Amino acid sequence: MHLNPIQLFDTESSTFTYILAVPESTDAVIIDPVDRHWERDLRHLERLGLKLAWVLETHAHADHITSAGKLRQLTGAKAAVPGGCGIAPAETQLNDGDTVQFGSAETIEVLHTPGHTAGSMSYVWHGNVFTGDTLLIDGCGRTDFQSGSADALYDSVTRKLFALPDDTRMWPGHDYKGQSVSTIGWEKRHNSRLANRSREEFAKLMGELKLPKPRLIDVAVPANQNLGLPHGG
Ligand code: FE2
Repeated sequence: MHLNPIQLFDTESSTFTYILAVPESTDAVIIDPVDRHWERDLRHLERLGLKLAWVLETHAHADHITSAGKLRQLTGAKAAVPGGCGIAPAETQLNDGDTVQFGSAETIEVLHTPGHTAGSMSYVWHGNVFTGDTLLIDGCGRTDFQSGSADALYDSVTRKLFALPDDTRMWPGHDYKGQSVSTIGWEKRHNSRLANRSREEFAKLMGELKLPKPRLIDVAVPANQNLGLPHGG
């Protein structure tokens, strides 16, 4: 069966949040929720009669704050996060090859895709891949802070994400150009940073980007390592 996630957007940080659910079950999973949208996200769950089982993070974000801790408090969901991101209060620290189960028989596969950050994970579910900031539509996450590495990102994308079936629907962590979904096959052919580029060419390109430091990084990363809750809270 063809299953799509529910895709939600934050216009301030251009971040996508995803709700995963299936017709046979009331259990749901949310990926990368954003702090200021916790009420909107709860309204969607309520409207659909869904109960939040897991909150997943793709990495410790530098450009917005997560509502993972808040949603966990309000719904009783558990948090599952990449093991290498220093997000200590989560119930589950995920490693490459792990699975997250929900509903009667739903399985999310965990792929370690370092490069944007050393801990970044992608999640595979029903022919969909949620790539966080590792792979964006016609782009990729920056690799110049938070233990990022252009070499690691190149390997994550070309060896792991591009190894998924071409018709896998690819749901990014952000989009800045008005797109919302792509496929692995399309990005393999058309992604302007990664398609038909050698590792050396890619590393050179990423090294020359000279991007400004994210405005919120000094606040957002420590907050997100505490699931978005104030420290001590
Ligand atoms: Fe990020």
